[in-house]
Amino acid sequence: MQRETRIAPSILSADFARLGEEIAAIDAAGADYIHVDVMDGHFVPAITIGPAVVKAIRPFSKKTFDVHLMISPVDNYIREFADAGSDIITIHAEATPHCHRTIQLIKSLDKKAGISLNPGTSIELLDNVMDMVDLILVMSVNPGFGGQKFIVSQLEKIRRIRQRIDNSGRDIDLQVDGGINMETAGWAVEAGADVLVAGTATFTGGPSQYEINIQKLRGE
Ligand code: DX5
Ligand code: ZN
Repeated sequence: MQRETRIAPSILSADFARLGEEIAAIDAAGADYIHVDVMDGHFVPAITIGPAVVKAIRPFSKKTFDVHLMISPVDNYIREFADAGSDIITIHAEATPHCHRTIQLIKSLDKKAGISLNPGTSIELLDNVMDMVDLILVMSVNPGFGGQKFIVSQLEKIRRIRQRIDNSGRDIDLQVDGGINMETAGWAVEAGADVLVAGTATFTGGPSQYEINIQKLRGE
């Protein structure tokens, strides 16, 4: 099946002093999703942004706000991120012993739900949530920072998840996040990914380069 590759720039690599303008710029440059990395200094070492910032930047684009929560515990914050204007809320399987319940909560708020797997996490747990999720995120780096090197062993994981998604017959995004550049983008798509998160590779060179960067990542 031929899938269209969508690009989700991670705003972690944007100029935080001009976040609204940066989001408008990647929107105009052809971004499909706006990927927002939320880190808590607990589940992952870094601290980034919270729901107040998501709310503040929301008016700068009508595109899908794809909010990647690297936080634990997570349940108490889901409603705030939903109210802030998230369209997709992705949680980490490792961040809660109750990912089924968390996904139910996200769906009850009429948001799309994603589940993310760290590089060291196996895919078996997907069996029990395949009927609920709208997105599966394969981390191709250990979460916590932008600018890391793509972990090649995750390509096999992407292939196996692609098969599971196709067998399910459901419309589920297969997203890859971490170390995506002009070379690794092709590998991930070949393995079956259809949404590529890219921080460094989108924002390199400043606003005049965003459109060309996004086109190259899409393989155009
Ligand atoms: C990593 C984040 C990623 C990251 C991607 O924890 O989830 O979204 O910012 O950055 P690059 O594309 O620079 O690897
Ligand atoms: Zn991310």
